[in-house]
Amino acid sequence: MNDQARNLRRSTAIPEAVLPPSLPAVAITGGKGGVGKTCLAVNLALLLAKLGKKPLLVDCDLSLANADVLLGLNPTATLFEVLTGSAPIKGAIVDGPGGMGFIPAASGRDELTRLSQSQLDSLIGGLNQVAQGYDMLVIDTPAGIGREVMSLLRASRTVVVVVTPEPTSLTDAYALIKVLENSDPGRDIRIVINMANHQDDALQAFARLKKVIATYLHRDITLIGSIPRDRHVAEAVRNRTPFALGPDTPALLALRAVAMRLKNEAWRDKK
Ligand SMILES: Nc1ncnc2c1ncn2[C@@H]1O[C@H](COP(=O)(O)OP(=O)(O)OP(=O)(O)O)[C@@H](O)[C@H]1O
Ligand SMILES: [Mg+2]
Repeated sequence: MNDQARNLRRSTAIPEAVLPPSLPAVAITGGKGGVGKTCLAVNLALLLAKLGKKPLLVDCDLSLANADVLLGLNPTATLFEVLTGSAPIKGAIVDGPGGMGFIPAASGRDELTRLSQSQLDSLIGGLNQVAQGYDMLVIDTPAGIGREVMSLLRASRTVVVVVTPEPTSLTDAYALIKVLENSDPGRDIRIVINMANHQDDALQAFARLKKVIATYLHRDITLIGSIPRDRHVAEAVRNRTPFALGPDTPALLALRAVAMRLKNEAWRDKK
């Protein structure tokens, strides 16, 4: 398996420098688009701040940024300026609510859809530097299993895969985990089921994913929580106010439990 992983790394030109995971980061990913990655990343960072941690939210959906919209912010410097060399990464950090830091991405910059490996390496290196001032990074990733996403996942200590109970989401999540597992076996991967109509749907979806991963990838995965479909989430998006700043709703209660588990488990002995 190790030889296979080494060959894969060579064939995809993934530099050994980013391995093993170097970032004190939880990367929020999912394979499929629209499953709630950004909503959960933004609100998770806020909840971690409310739990006494000092998180830095990083929008790594580099060319279709959304986290700033959900936070109701209009940033000036973004990762576009950082990656094109006109701003230092520290200069792109803005103060978010509750004491969290936030690094925004840009929108509509197609240059950022084809980063070179050295640009990706320097982004990860820059994030490693600014991470010193924070307890943890929360990285929002774009949909897909492209090189940018996979580099960020390989660099992050914990990978949270957001899945909805739909078969297409489960298929995409499996594909993503397979690609990650083939190159870096045994990563800390946790699953969040989002937008389930009932808890039974969430548990069934997780059981299906767990079974297929055990059968074909010969590893176990952990469920870190399930977030119900909740109209308050969409309302918060429309109002550009994160739902974590509002009153307790079913989604907020469920995500708070996820934040507590991440705080207690993923970061134990790691910082
Ligand atoms: N638990 C939930 N209940 C109800 N609606 C939700 C929930 N989670 C997310 N949504 C809705 O799903 C929409 C898409 O969410 P979001 O933008 O976070 O997805 P994404 O995975 O980041 O998408 P993309 O792949 O385009 O980046 C949100 O605008 C919100 O309205
Ligand atoms: Mg998103």
